[in-house]
Amino acid sequence: MDKIVIHGGQRLRGEVTIHGAKNAALLIQCAALLTERPCVIRHLPRLSDIATMSALLAHLGCATSGDRTLKIDPGGVREGPLEAPYEMVKTMRASVTVMGPLLARHGRCRVSLPGGCAIGARPIDQHLKGLEALGAKITIKHGYVDLKARRLRGAAFMFDTVTVGGTQNIMMAATLAKGTSRLENVAREPEVEELARVLVKMGAKISGAGGSVIEIEGVDELSGFDHAVVPDRIEAGTFAVAAAITRGDVLLLDAPVDHMHATIAKLEEAGVECRVEADGLRVVGPERLDPIDVTTRPYPGFATDMQAQMMVLAACASGQSLITETIFENRFMHVPELCRMGADVTVHGNSAVVRGGGRLSGAEVMATDLRASASLVLAGLVANGKTEIRRVYHLDRGYEQIEKRLRALGANIRRFHGGKA
Ligand code: EPZ
Repeated sequence: MDKIVIHGGQRLRGEVTIHGAKNAALLIQCAALLTERPCVIRHLPRLSDIATMSALLAHLGCATSGDRTLKIDPGGVREGPLEAPYEMVKTMRASVTVMGPLLARHGRCRVSLPGGCAIGARPIDQHLKGLEALGAKITIKHGYVDLKARRLRGAAFMFDTVTVGGTQNIMMAATLAKGTSRLENVAREPEVEELARVLVKMGAKISGAGGSVIEIEGVDELSGFDHAVVPDRIEAGTFAVAAAITRGDVLLLDAPVDHMHATIAKLEEAGVECRVEADGLRVVGPERLDPIDVTTRPYPGFATDMQAQMMVLAACASGQSLITETIFENRFMHVPELCRMGADVTVHGNSAVVRGGGRLSGAEVMATDLRASASLVLAGLVANGKTEIRRVYHLDRGYEQIEKRLRALGANIRRFHGGKA
């Protein structure tokens, strides 16, 4: 397994191009299952999750080629079991969002229940409840969900809890249902809006995406699409924190500033200068960071996917910060590792008190999930001495060549291939 070694203390300077948004791209890949026509997705990041989703599409019968620009021909989707197997779903839970498209276009599919993951139980009850509301017959046995529907029919459905994937799954299913659907208490994330843009390109009739109510008028068939994915607000936020904590000066080219208001507001509260420029967002870190209180919320609130990264900023700030995680029940896996690097963090339920000010010290640490591993890289950038991060495959799920791009900004960071876990 690879490891990343960082010698902290370098100020980051220069510019970095923000890649396409992983969490938008995965759902756009699923949308190709709604048509038999060829689809093209551009500006894709080269990430293991994207490759996993392409492998699932191929398993379902799609012909796929390319990576930065992905061509998908769903014409060959087999009339077979249309199954998303356990080993694929376990690797990447976003696989469950093939349910809506497969059910809508083929009337059946069999998808492994994803089970839990490092950050929480992450059930899919809302996905299933929404599909049932559209007329799906659902049976669960042997760890799999079997779904059938001769033709989905439009319905009014209110989510019990705001779910990004659930909103996207039901929205896709409703595009080919007979009649109109009205979805309430939906997720408002930019990735939901981006998916709706693609579905409309395909001929779907959708209004309200990005708000709290989405209306969809079902159509009989959808065409293919050619779409360039919006830049990744979480990758941009992660690089912004890297600039902030290293007293750096970094231009985030193509950063989706309009989707980063909550992150930018918190950075500015900490004393970081965030300047919108013609081609991106310039982030200038101060000599001294102020503490901040952060509570994660559904969009447009502060993103849970930025929580671990912001904790590193809090650890560097002069004073006490409070970080509260309201979206997932176990998203403080980075805390023990950061504490090994000298951070002073005390967890009380879903809140963490961070007493900043001391300098972090380099250590051997272990990545546990995608954003936790990003926080360990950030900590290594400012820690005194050497930090070794293992299990960096977690990092590769969401950040393309992050060590190469940070090195280009002046970080002393290298990746070593192979070696023990
Ligand atoms: C998406 O996951 C993102 N992943 C996550 O990013 C992100 O953290 C999350 O949204 C929240 O913003 C992708 O888009 C591929 P949810 P998703 O359904 O859709 C509960 C990253 O680091 N819930 O909005 O799976 C659930 O347990 C990843 O890039 C139910 O109870 O998240 C959680 O507590 C991590 N029942 C909350 O809702 C359901 O049926 C939010 O989950 C569905 C969800």
